[in-house]
Amino acid sequence: MSAPSSRYACSVEEAASVAGAALAGGALVGLGLDLVEVARFAAALARYPKMGERLFTPAERGYAGGFADPAPSLAARFAAKEAVMKALGVGLGAFAFPEVEVERHASGQPYISLHGSAEDLASRRGVRQWLVSLTHTETTAAAVVVAIS
Ligand SMILES: CC(C)(COP(=O)(O)OP(=O)(O)OC[C@H]1O[C@@H](n2cnc3c(N)ncnc32)[C@H](O)[C@@H]1OP(=O)(O)O)[C@@H](O)C(=O)NCCC(=O)NCCS
Repeated sequence: MSAPSSRYACSVEEAASVAGAALAGGALVGLGLDLVEVARFAAALARYPKMGERLFTPAERGYAGGFADPAPSLAARFAAKEAVMKALGVGLGAFAFPEVEVERHASGQPYISLHGSAEDLASRRGVRQWLVSLTHTETTAAAVVVAIS
């Protein structure tokens, strides 16, 4: 699903510089992948009204809320948070979901920001950079993340 074109403002040079900066001198520390069924995820959000706040930052909810159906974007962001857990070799409970935040460059390219105990854990593992890619359709959402020292 593509976001409205008015949300993009970038150059190829900016995109190349983002990718280059992430890889410069770093070693691969971890890899994570996660797939989410959008309908199941949307049903859980509808059933538990507080779930959105428990899983996502205000900025994440604000971005997804700009779409007629926020569920695919939220599901992709949930996948990214679980993929970060996998890349760090930990599971549910290691940190609060909003401590892994999916933000966006002007180009629309997502990036990961860590906060609190998630940031501390990643730092102890030697992770200094993250790469993330998201995809979502009406039915499924997925994320892959790479942790780099
Ligand atoms: C990147 C793009 C091709 C993906 O489209 P798609 O295959 O229909 O959609 P997908 O579901 O597979 O991927 C959507 C996700 O791609 C990611 N994405 C968007 N723009 C991106 C970019 N420039 N680089 C990397 N990832 C990007 C986002 O995470 C998006 O999900 P989100 O809006 O929930 O954050 C499409 O979003 C696009 O053309 N974006 C325009 C980007 C652009 O032109 N930027 C200016 C370049 S200088």
